[in-house]
Amino acid sequence: MWKDFPLWPESASSLSDRVDALYLFLIGISGFFATLICALIVVFSFKYRRRPDRPRGTAIEGSLALELAWTIIPLGITLVIFTWGAKLFFAAAIPPADTTDVYVVGKQWMWKIQHPQGQREINELHVPLGQAIRLTMTSEDVIHSFYVPAFRMKQDVLPGRYSRAWFRATKTGVFHLFCAEYCGTKHSQMIGSVHVLEPQEYERWLSGAIAGEPPAEAGRRLFETLRCDTCHKDAPDARGPSLHGVFGTQVALEDGGTALVNEEYLRESILRPMQRVTKGYQPVMPSYEGQIGEEEVLQLIAYLKTLKGAAGGGGQR
Ligand code: CUA
Repeated sequence: MWKDFPLWPESASSLSDRVDALYLFLIGISGFFATLICALIVVFSFKYRRRPDRPRGTAIEGSLALELAWTIIPLGITLVIFTWGAKLFFAAAIPPADTTDVYVVGKQWMWKIQHPQGQREINELHVPLGQAIRLTMTSEDVIHSFYVPAFRMKQDVLPGRYSRAWFRATKTGVFHLFCAEYCGTKHSQMIGSVHVLEPQEYERWLSGAIAGEPPAEAGRRLFETLRCDTCHKDAPDARGPSLHGVFGTQVALEDGGTALVNEEYLRESILRPMQRVTKGYQPVMPSYEGQIGEEEVLQLIAYLKTLKGAAGGGGQR
């Protein structure tokens, strides 16, 4: 019977049972107090109603025990909710170390997805069972929201920045993917599905799917066609800093500060290079805003992340 009348979406990720447990706890607590208060209102309205022989309404003096009780008990309950919620929030916000990176670009009205091996999908996402998947997402136009109820995962996808989410599927099958932020007339059609496959089946899917260029490879090509290598070469007189091994490090800036070289910083440096210029270099880099799309920016970043080693090493020009 419950199959035709599901109260809960399927539970298919490593976090979904934990989210459900907290949710049930909140419903339980709210239900308990709502029932208690309703019952007391009814009972008291009979028990203490005004009668001719028994006038009511005399003022009472305070009761320390009662006041302490109704302060400490709710404080305890809300602290339990807070701690529980915070633990779950951190578990959902911090991906484990061994994730597979998948890029997602939302636009009116579709989800464009690219796998690290180069496969592209629209409104579909194939993932292997048990593998943690980390999504790096952005939007080409307005705010969307990547929502997979079976994974208890929902993350807004915003233009002009990267948002991240991760999940580890624990059940094979096909699960709904929704856009959960009203984004225009066809918002309701911005839907898709997440296919969770056994690892061998996933390998088969990967080899069967038309693999485009891997993002890092496309990024390398873009790096050349856009002539980024003219300035970002590993030479002492280069106009731009070397990009080898720069990802994940702190760089000193012209204005005296420092910046962590992460996806956000790289994106900003490509689109608005004057914002934070590396120390020791002139602000001469042209902006690529409007010239390349979000997917290209992601590809460039994927390429820059592969540039390992100290500046001068790596053998790239
Ligand atoms: Cu995209 Cu609603």
